[in-house]
Amino acid sequence: MPEQVETLKKQFQTDLAGVKDLAALSALRDKYMGRKSGLVHALIKQIGRVPPEERRAFGQAVNELKTYVESSLERLRAELEAHAQAEQLERERVDITLPGLRPRFGHLHPITRMRQRIEDIFVAMGYTVEDGPEVETSFYNFDALNIPPGHPAREAQDTLYLSSDIALRTQTSTVQIRTMERRRPPLRIIAPGKVFRRDTPDPTHNPMFYQVEGLTVDRNIHMGHLKGTLQEFVRRMFGPDAKTRFRPSYFPFVEPGAEVDYSCFLCRGQGCRVCKGAGWIELGGCGMVHPKVLRGVGIDPEEFTGFAFGLGIDRMAALIYGIDDIRLLYENDTRFLEQFGL
Ligand code: PHE
Repeated sequence: MPEQVETLKKQFQTDLAGVKDLAALSALRDKYMGRKSGLVHALIKQIGRVPPEERRAFGQAVNELKTYVESSLERLRAELEAHAQAEQLERERVDITLPGLRPRFGHLHPITRMRQRIEDIFVAMGYTVEDGPEVETSFYNFDALNIPPGHPAREAQDTLYLSSDIALRTQTSTVQIRTMERRRPPLRIIAPGKVFRRDTPDPTHNPMFYQVEGLTVDRNIHMGHLKGTLQEFVRRMFGPDAKTRFRPSYFPFVEPGAEVDYSCFLCRGQGCRVCKGAGWIELGGCGMVHPKVLRGVGIDPEEFTGFAFGLGIDRMAALIYGIDDIRLLYENDTRFLEQFGL
């Protein structure tokens, strides 16, 4: 091989060994194979000037060099490109075996779920759901419910007063009055909502809790309707074997008045830790609407009679969900509430 060709080949090999990326490769290609000033092309142009007896060998050697340079450049290009692609793949690598991020679903608060169950049961029995304000006048919270000034229930130690005449309602019975003022019998309503009392918080008390009020007013309504309605409610809420028991009691706005218990859903009356050995659990207060209350809202007690009840929603929720401290229901600690998802 002519010396000139040999030298260029060596130079090319040295240059090639120094190429680390595609940009350097492209520069190298220009240096050797460029149409105008490429070193290999310079040799090709020389072929015609070589003495005729050496021309053939020289031409052949230049051609071989050209082929060698081209194929070397091509091989290195393929290598560098493969390498660049491998690097990109590594950089953009996604581990598809990682567990996915589960979307977190919320759910209703246990008290809300209990309230909705209660509403469903009464709505199925023909009741409508009423609402009333949480801030009330003494008239709706006391006077209209036959709780006169001086009655112990009005004492400031039980009631959270905002002013001398305005307080946070202590009972949902306020909605009885508001409904009867607006609408004439026949009436069948329930009114679930918050009530407030000045209680010191402990596992069974909280200054804010939930009640559901019930009121039926119509012709010929008697105590049997009250007992039958609450018995049916308890049966639908706690199962076909659930029983009720009525104990005489006193509330100024009913006569006669009673407290209603239901047989423990866990031990069915045998006595267990849920009912504290009693076999019965307190559901709430009830009774026949006092004639004075009816007269106060302009309903003639000779023509219409009614019954009312007020049940504790929180206690029902706590018992059904097995919660031993009702304060947990109001703290909104999601670690606690998450246990009651569907
Ligand atoms: N409002 C009474 C209470 O809180 C419950 C009740 C409602 C009693 C309706 C009788 C009739 O405690």
